[in-house]
Amino acid sequence: MRALAADPGVGPIASARDLVKTYGRGEAVVRALDGVSVDFARGELTAIMGPSGSGKSTLMHCMAGLDTPTAGTVVVDGEDVGRMNQRRLTRLRRTRLGFVFQAFNLIPTLTAEENIRLPLDIARRPVDRAWFDTVVDAVGLRDRLDHRPGELSGGQQQRVACARALISRPAVVFADEPTGNLDSRSSGEVLGFLRRSVDELGQAIVMVTHDATAASYAHRVLFLADGRLVGELEDPTRETVLDALRGFTPGDGDGHGRHEQPLAQTAGPVTR
Ligand SMILES: Nc1ncnc2c1ncn2[C@@H]1O[C@H](COP(=O)(O)OP(=O)(O)O)[C@@H](O)[C@H]1O
Ligand SMILES: [Mg+2]
Repeated sequence: MRALAADPGVGPIASARDLVKTYGRGEAVVRALDGVSVDFARGELTAIMGPSGSGKSTLMHCMAGLDTPTAGTVVVDGEDVGRMNQRRLTRLRRTRLGFVFQAFNLIPTLTAEENIRLPLDIARRPVDRAWFDTVVDAVGLRDRLDHRPGELSGGQQQRVACARALISRPAVVFADEPTGNLDSRSSGEVLGFLRRSVDELGQAIVMVTHDATAASYAHRVLFLADGRLVGELEDPTRETVLDALRGFTPGDGDGHGRHEQPLAQTAGPVTR
């Protein structure tokens, strides 16, 4: 699994250098990212934590070419995202990146199978049946493929969304609070799948979460505050994550006029 990332000559699958993203101008300027440099490896599940407004979503959006950084570079799968035109960017997003959102974002009129195949159908690419089967079995949805989202539980819907994100064998999957709308049992299912897809399928996944237990599924946790990386934890457990969060309690930042929320949402009921 992580040996892949350590292979000589195999660099990070995605990286950012000196990323800056500002919104607005003059007095109202917000520095959502304030010089972030980070590498993401194949076969690695990285969690990103930090208070609301610390720049987590902005980092994911800039990495995924959904937002344009004000300064700095993003390289995904060997390609400089900032130098791509819209057309190549769209192709990169469709074929090399996967997304999982808090709100599932499934098409209600399509079955689970049709939702999973959707990225390939849109890109007019054939479905690799063996890979489809691997992904469907990994998410445990074999007997739900004919169901529409309304007939599935939240956890099942999010597992459909995870399968959809993986179906094109993307270089990286970006998941923004994937368990934010799920109960603890469903969260455990989704997180277990994300971790397995990294360990067994060699996927790279970057996941934003507020939950220390969710973060403990990751190989590594990055902590953001005020648009900067302020800490990193390898092989996290729920306890070491909570300890780290206590250490980064906000209050000494420059604030940017934001409403700060508590860094640690310690109520994570997910059991591992
Ligand atoms: N489209 C936007 N326009 C203006 N400000 C934004 C926009 N998106 C994000 N911001 C601001 O950038 C900062 C970081 O936001 P975000 O990346 O969404 O944080 P997080 O995901 O950690 O909660 C916040 O202060 C937010 O208000
Ligand atoms: Mg966010």
